Amino acid sequence: MTLRISNLGKHYGDAPVFENVTLGVEPGEFVAIVGESGVGKSTLLNCMAGLDSWDQGTVTHDGTDIGALDGEACALWRRKHVGFVFQAFHVLPHLDVAQNVSLPLMLLGQHRQPGDASRVAHMLEAVGLPGMGTRLPQTLSGGQLQRVAIARALVHRPALLLADEPTGNLDPTTAAKVMELLIGQTREHGASLVLVTHSESAAARADRLLHLTASGIRA
Ligand SMILES: Nc1ncnc2c1ncn2[C@@H]1O[C@H](COP(=O)(O)OP(=O)(O)O)[C@@H](O)[C@H]1O
Ligand SMILES: [Mg+2]
Repeated sequence: MTLRISNLGKHYGDAPVFENVTLGVEPGEFVAIVGESGVGKSTLLNCMAGLDSWDQGTVTHDGTDIGALDGEACALWRRKHVGFVFQAFHVLPHLDVAQNVSLPLMLLGQHRQPGDASRVAHMLEAVGLPGMGTRLPQTLSGGQLQRVAIARALVHRPALLLADEPTGNLDPTTAAKVMELLIGQTREHGASLVLVTHSESAAARADRLLHLTASGIRA
């Protein structure tokens, strides 16, 4: 399932954010995006997930024209195919950790399938939060919340993994562990990984490193 961005442009009123952004990400490929603060990295990831709109160009995933989907169709596509690690976590405060992680499975109607609880437990173990499923988010640190968000983004094995500075709040050891998970999902399950990062060590592991500027994206 290839992600293809063609000639994407976005502006707020008269203020352009970016233009002429063209890139493709193949299954199993890991692309890192760097760029100055405010250049539109988060906006671009949101466009890739169909969470934001754009003014020029197209986003397609496995041939599906994401811009042509209506809100509901886009939500269904996203549910099935996208894992998104938001910069601000967006962990739901009234759900415990295990419920947060199993949310994608629940939305896909897979949460009562055999093995679901063990899949959630396995994800929590993989992000270094074993046995913390019954904790509420308010009892976790920033780094722990970020790992809950990462477990949630991976639990349904999405084909498209979008991560916005996912190691920003983590110590180097935990950051390396999280990168292993994201890269593992990419290599083993053929996901396409797009990672926005300020971390040189994370970017160094990418197949391609791209720089986003106001006038386009380049190697
Ligand atoms: N709702 C909005 N209205 C106007 N400008 C916005 C809005 N949201 C974001 N922007 C602007 O779009 C630009 C890109 O933001 P963002 O994608 O968050 O950048 P980055 O993630 O690279 O730091 C910024 O200059 C920001 O101020
Ligand atoms: Mg950002």
